[in-house]
Amino acid sequence: MAIETTSRALDVFTNTLDRIVRQNTNGAVDGAAIVAEATPHFEELLSDMSWLDPKFQIAEEGGIANYMLAKATDDSWTVVSTVWWPDYGTPVHDHMLWGLVGVWKGMELERRYHRVDDGSRENYAEMKEIGVAYNRPGDVSGLVPPDDDFHLIQNITPEPSCSIHIYGGSLDGVLRHSFNIETGEITEFRSNYNIAC
Ligand SMILES: [Fe+2]
Repeated sequence: MAIETTSRALDVFTNTLDRIVRQNTNGAVDGAAIVAEATPHFEELLSDMSWLDPKFQIAEEGGIANYMLAKATDDSWTVVSTVWWPDYGTPVHDHMLWGLVGVWKGMELERRYHRVDDGSRENYAEMKEIGVAYNRPGDVSGLVPPDDDFHLIQNITPEPSCSIHIYGGSLDGVLRHSFNIETGEITEFRSNYNIAC
């Protein structure tokens, strides 16, 4: 079951999301189906963001702020508000979970990658850029591991940008990886949240 939040719009969305996740979890989790089915509902949520409390829109100087808005009682999905400082960008990284990223304020550059080496060399990966997008309010992009799970995001505007991120679990419990596309070096990391629900 979804938790109750302080917003009716978010409650309606998370109840639908919860149903979609249950319907596509039969032993294994079908991330591609969840991402496809949840996208139109997510787009509807993003079309009017007046429900989002201003305290979850506060930027953190020079970096990224992550606010957990809602999560399933069994951690099978989470909804996070992410605020990006002007020019702040991530390295290429993975998530190890299905995901949906939707911009609602500002513009975020997203570069997508595929891993093209065979994984046999320790702490080394070759990443090939496969696409670039300039994500504006209402734009949604999906993440489906293991193949479509790699990107970087940068706020390329002089104002903070805001996006909602949905994942098939809680990212702070996941050991993830960032990739140096010049040297091929892999670095492990974990996310943390400014405010967790
Ligand atoms: Fe990401």
